[in-house]
Amino acid sequence: MNNRGRFDSKLGVVLASAGSAVGLGNIWRFPTEVGQNGGAAFILVYIAFVLFLALPVMVSEFVIGRSSGANIVHAFRKLAPTKWWMIVGFMGVLAGFLVLSFYSVVAGWTLKYTIDAIAHRISGTDPAQTFNNFVSDTWSPIFYMTLFLLLTHFVVIRGIKGGIERYSKLMMPLLLLIIVILVGCSLGMPGSVEGLRFLLKPDFSKVTPHVVLSAMAQAFFSLSVGIGCLATYASYFNKDMNLSGSAVNVCAIDTIVAIISGFIIFPAVFSVEGVQADAGAGLVFITLPHVFSSAFSQMPLVGYVFSTLFYLLLLLAALTSSISMHEICTAFVSEHYNFKRKYAATLVTLVYLFLGAACSLSFGPWKDCKLAGMTVFDWFDFATAMFIMPVGGIFISLFVGWRLERELLTNELTNNGMLKVKGLNVLIFLIKWVAPIGVGMVFLNELAKLFN
Ligand code: ALA
Repeated sequence: MNNRGRFDSKLGVVLASAGSAVGLGNIWRFPTEVGQNGGAAFILVYIAFVLFLALPVMVSEFVIGRSSGANIVHAFRKLAPTKWWMIVGFMGVLAGFLVLSFYSVVAGWTLKYTIDAIAHRISGTDPAQTFNNFVSDTWSPIFYMTLFLLLTHFVVIRGIKGGIERYSKLMMPLLLLIIVILVGCSLGMPGSVEGLRFLLKPDFSKVTPHVVLSAMAQAFFSLSVGIGCLATYASYFNKDMNLSGSAVNVCAIDTIVAIISGFIIFPAVFSVEGVQADAGAGLVFITLPHVFSSAFSQMPLVGYVFSTLFYLLLLLAALTSSISMHEICTAFVSEHYNFKRKYAATLVTLVYLFLGAACSLSFGPWKDCKLAGMTVFDWFDFATAMFIMPVGGIFISLFVGWRLERELLTNELTNNGMLKVKGLNVLIFLIKWVAPIGVGMVFLNELAKLFN
């Protein structure tokens, strides 16, 4: 256990954890959810979920990880000798495999679009056709997915300090710089007022119970909580890290990036007449290529720089998140089976290649292989975002709030009394009561609807 590796600096911890959080979820999903589900009203609901539900779960993960100094399965084994709690750890490892499998498919598309943008090959004439031809092909998306997984592998195999921390310190500042440049460009576009109105106009009538669940699922997915991702990172934290302060920083960075992503996308989208603010893949791979070529037709150089930086931003965000999901599984395989890190990481990457290929084929030859109307890709997404993350969140907060000794919890949060944590009792109250009951209620409500 001693040679598990450690983060070397507090900055490295915050950047790596924020890197885990900031991902495709922030840039391609959050802005559209906001625009379609009540604008500022949705943002308020989302922020409430971040503060009252996701933040306590994140702090709980940090406590579990740092106090155990082990992967997510062994962490539960160490802290609670009853075997049942290990199931929560195994669920986390399973989610680590499922999430990165479908995530790497989309990240592979992003990689292709980044390369195309650099090579000036983004097609503005028929972007829908171009995109559909590409994703429905058998081998091409698998090729880019493999390249993306190899990039992830390249970082993970280098360990904590020389891999995850080093590359997070390079990639996160670059990502933040790109965001600042893009938001500056986008706000100067003719559609900026209309874009911001679409994004921010509050409409509480659109906040239905279903929208409430998707806000919670979005908060959990975006912050990577409920699956032990951040617990795994925390197992490499030093004892002087301020756990609650770091969690607040990560939540703040993630939420700000999500909101600013909307400030980048919608002013651009609304600058081109007749373009609809689409969602997800359609927005990023069909609408935006069209926007880039139309909005910048008079200024091709600006269009080139804007589109290249945009896809690079998406790629960096995907990469910093995928590294953290890979790490859940690599840490587990390496410690559980006593494999050297490089062999564990290689085995994990091979499993991702296999599962990722199944997800990729869901858009091509396997698009009609459906169970309950959903493809393999849809199932992986649904099972993790709607099921494992909330259920994991409930059990993680129950574990820290009720099973862990109160003294250990307080010692972890205050670094054995060295740290004054404002609102410590409120935080413990959130962990014990608000997070499990709140997540449980939203989750059960949605589950009941599914079975009706
Ligand atoms: N937290 C990552 C994202 O938002 C998984 O994409």
